[in-house]
Amino acid sequence: MKGILLAGGLGERLFPITRATSKQLLPVYDKPMIFYPLCALMQAGAREVLIIVRPTEEDRFRSLLSDGSQWGMDISYAIQPNPNGIAEAPLIGADFLGDAQFALALGDNIFCGGDFDARLATAATTSTGATIFLKRVEEPGRYGVVEFAADERPRRIVEKPENPPSDYAVTGLYIYDGDAVSMARGLKPSARGELEITDLNNAYLARERLSVVRLSDDDAWLDMGTPEGLLEASQFVASEQQRRGERIGVPEHIGLRNGWVDASGIERLAASYGDNDYGRYLRRLIGDV
Ligand code: G1P
Repeated sequence: MKGILLAGGLGERLFPITRATSKQLLPVYDKPMIFYPLCALMQAGAREVLIIVRPTEEDRFRSLLSDGSQWGMDISYAIQPNPNGIAEAPLIGADFLGDAQFALALGDNIFCGGDFDARLATAATTSTGATIFLKRVEEPGRYGVVEFAADERPRRIVEKPENPPSDYAVTGLYIYDGDAVSMARGLKPSARGELEITDLNNAYLARERLSVVRLSDDDAWLDMGTPEGLLEASQFVASEQQRRGERIGVPEHIGLRNGWVDASGIERLAASYGDNDYGRYLRRLIGDV
């Protein structure tokens, strides 16, 4: 399983905050936004991850995430020259992907809680074709929405419909088999001039190779693309961490759990934070308080 994290785009809905920086580098409570979807990819078992960024931003992402070896990962970078849509990601990543199965995550989505970890782990090991994750939301018209047939199977996905056919939004986490690259090559830009991930998913659906996983109402999904979403996400992370007594979106934690980095590696990382709060938390992870 490889991973692609899409962190391109202009973040126009967040202007002027994102005029001079990428949205995915903004703080979400106590971490940069990109840590959260990166952790989702790590939970899906993606150790080799390609991060797609907008031009001029690669150095900033590199100084934050480096080559991933600190977490036992292999992180590389690619540029999306223009904001041409999410389904451009497999095309930009074609050489990186080869014919591997991969998980694709949007850099401004948080997933957490309930049974999410288990659901993702199961999907990652059993997915054939493509798998998408659905979440019941109050305003489905802001997202890709699934229309179901009478037998509850998905009939089609509609992008930002005026009259949503259901309350189930398609979240920004997808698993694809090695055919995604050639299928994405067959897509045409939509009316908004983008290669739509919804069109790629509909192409899998038409071939009867799309699986859907419904997240439960207890699983949290947040999209941080607007000022309200950003604030809500920070508040959510703060209160969730308080409630659990454990942090979310900590790559060191997932790396340790996956066996990709050991206690001495975490100790080294903790030392690099000195005696700050994050450093102390990392020491707690390895029981060295
Ligand atoms: C994109 C997808 C949409 C999906 C959403 C999830 O929307 O096009 O299908 O539901 O991400 O965050 P966009 O962020 O491009 O408006």
